[in-house]
Amino acid sequence: MKILAIESSCDETAAAVVEDGRKILSSVVATQIESHKIFGGVVPEIASRMHIEAISAVVDEAMKKASLSFDDLDAVAVTYAPGLIGALLVGVNFAKGLSYSTGLELIPVHHLRGHIASNYLTFPELEPPFMCLVVSGGHSHIVTVDDYTSFKIIGKTRDDAAGECLDKAARAMGLAYPGGVNLDREAVNGDENAYKLPHPRVDGSEYDFSFSGLKTAAINIIHNAQQKGETINRADLCASYLKAVTDCLCDNTVRAMNEYGFKKLALAGGVSANSVLRRKMSDYAEKNGWSLYLPDLSLCGDNAAMIGSQAYYEFLKGNIASENLNAYATMPIDKPIF
Ligand code: KG4
Ligand code: ZN
Repeated sequence: MKILAIESSCDETAAAVVEDGRKILSSVVATQIESHKIFGGVVPEIASRMHIEAISAVVDEAMKKASLSFDDLDAVAVTYAPGLIGALLVGVNFAKGLSYSTGLELIPVHHLRGHIASNYLTFPELEPPFMCLVVSGGHSHIVTVDDYTSFKIIGKTRDDAAGECLDKAARAMGLAYPGGVNLDREAVNGDENAYKLPHPRVDGSEYDFSFSGLKTAAINIIHNAQQKGETINRADLCASYLKAVTDCLCDNTVRAMNEYGFKKLALAGGVSANSVLRRKMSDYAEKNGWSLYLPDLSLCGDNAAMIGSQAYYEFLKGNIASENLNAYATMPIDKPIF
């Protein structure tokens, strides 16, 4: 089954053709990073407009790269939630138009379910059940993937997402947007024990995260230094901050893995590209005898191939939308689509 998938939930306009949920026939990502850089973050209105400008060409290119025509396809899939509402609406309306004009089935895909599915593209042998740490710019979840379309949230952030917390601290340190990846690069030359940062825990929940205090602590270090006319060692602060964030992510995930008795752990979302997180989780997996699934770096960030992969399993489950499909800025991952 060949699915054309469309993704436009944030600042990447993407289209891909995926066969049977596991084989990428083409994948095109048009990033808007350069346009948002001068503002230090994504400007939703600019994102929506740029999606409108790019989407036809991106879909065309994905079809050309796959050497297919619309007659060769079986369905069209689209990210319908969660994300920036104006950005999501561009993809959803484009997909609806395409479905209406071609007669192709329309499959709605939850963005975070898509991120998890990036592991099915990287590891053909991976099947649920497994546990997954989903860490992106907007979400930080520990979930059990009980089946391809059945999820349980074990823990989540009470405030900022891990990616957001990295991006905001990176901006305060003078690093360019997108902060997370630049912070990752800068930290390579730093001493992770140079700065003391808190290790926030959430009272009454061993699996939930809280990152906003950690972010404030790092920003305070920067401001205090500025007020005293001192300079911070940026590489050291990046390394210390990454250690603090990844310690929180690893501690709760390791606890959840042990408590729930899973032997398979996957990472997903933009932050799963982080070198420290990948290294630390690999060490924990080795120590505990778990199989660890780290998505290919090319599939960690937003892309449409992961949407095409998840769409296949949503289709098998009968999750097919009508022309009334809407976009939603928020939507829990565990909520049944219909
Ligand atoms: O999944 P994603 O591409 O978009 C959302 O769905 O939000 O995640 C974007 C997030 C951003 O916060 C970005 O800074 C972070 O992923 N990110 C990283 C790295 N690459 C991307 N964070 C840390 N280290 C990286 N190498
Ligand atoms: Zn994402």
